[in-house]
Amino acid sequence: MNQPITKEHILSALEKVKSPLSLHSILEGQYLKNVSVCDNIAKLNFELHPHEQGIQKSLESQINTALTPLGLKEYKVEFSILDGKHPPAVAASVESHMKSVIAVASGKGGVGKSTVAANLAVALAKLGFQTGLLDADIYGPSIPLLMKKVGSQPLATPQGKIVPLENYGLKLMSVGFVTEPGQAIVWRGPMIHKLLEEFFKKVEWGDLDYLVIDLPPGTGDTQLSLSQLIPLSGAVIVTTPQDVALADVEKCVKMFEKVHIPILGIVENMSYYLCSRCGERDEIFSHGGGQKAAEKWGYHYLGAIPLKTQIREGGDSGLPFVEQNLNSQESQAILEIAKQLKDRVKPVEKIHIHKT
Ligand SMILES: Nc1ncnc2c1ncn2[C@@H]1O[C@H](COP(=O)(O)OP(=O)(O)OP(=O)(O)O)[C@@H](O)[C@H]1O
Ligand SMILES: [Mg+2]
Repeated sequence: MNQPITKEHILSALEKVKSPLSLHSILEGQYLKNVSVCDNIAKLNFELHPHEQGIQKSLESQINTALTPLGLKEYKVEFSILDGKHPPAVAASVESHMKSVIAVASGKGGVGKSTVAANLAVALAKLGFQTGLLDADIYGPSIPLLMKKVGSQPLATPQGKIVPLENYGLKLMSVGFVTEPGQAIVWRGPMIHKLLEEFFKKVEWGDLDYLVIDLPPGTGDTQLSLSQLIPLSGAVIVTTPQDVALADVEKCVKMFEKVHIPILGIVENMSYYLCSRCGERDEIFSHGGGQKAAEKWGYHYLGAIPLKTQIREGGDSGLPFVEQNLNSQESQAILEIAKQLKDRVKPVEKIHIHKT
């Protein structure tokens, strides 16, 4: 007689089923709520957040493929959608299509999130992708400066939509385009949520392969709102190499796990200094914190970006380093990270932004 099929057999088969929004197993994403098996008849219950409904079909088909070889007599797979706090996913309609939305984040301030987000977005555009860059840092927007658009304002259409600004082949949106520079605004959670919602619903993004989002530091309202508003493909976590940055990476990673946003990988910024005269590599802040963090938390290490005066100057003058020095070793490192993201984000689900 054949061995009875156990819960462990089922879990091991499900290991291969991946969320189409990431390359991670659904077991890591905490979608599976219950598995019971008795007499080779199994019952599986999965739970999705409202913004994840779009991935159900893909999961169902992968689950069938994974379970069929086990030879169960019968199995039933049920999906339930969590109700309550989450507003409906930004879905439906036909006006804007985004294939992938990537957030650039870090638990810590000043590690170079905005610089990395801006240069990664330029790198994706250089690789031939339609790319947008959204500044979700409501408190300290950097994109107007980084993209030479300080003082520019986006146009509104007669229908009340907002036309994003453009530079270096990117579509751009920032709260900095609609407030006075230096103006201090106290944003509270619900206001941030509303504003971010407008950034998705009211902005004429058109068809994008990638929308890169520059997040504020920390693990606050913006991150939470984003997870509720849009099916993020995943987050890139930026860190500096020092050991002390590890604790912040942990906080950041845990927060994304909690709201079911896949971590696409970890970037070590300001990793080492390449002497522009002799080409020698100097590891000013020691080295390897990013890789260590990735190993510790089981995430992919995307690579290192060196500390380079011209990267800062590029930011200050609004001419992104990659735009200016495409063939340099440093730009190649950034392009390499962009290519990895391209491979790690599966653009199977198109995100349709419903306009209000
Ligand atoms: N690889 C780099 N080489 C040289 N300077 C860098 C590099 N990355 C970032 N910087 C500089 O470090 C400073 C902080 O960078 P940035 O504003 O991108 O950080 P951030 O994490 O977005 O900060 P915040 O938390 O305030 O949003 C800037 O002056 C920027 O030009
Ligand atoms: Mg920033």
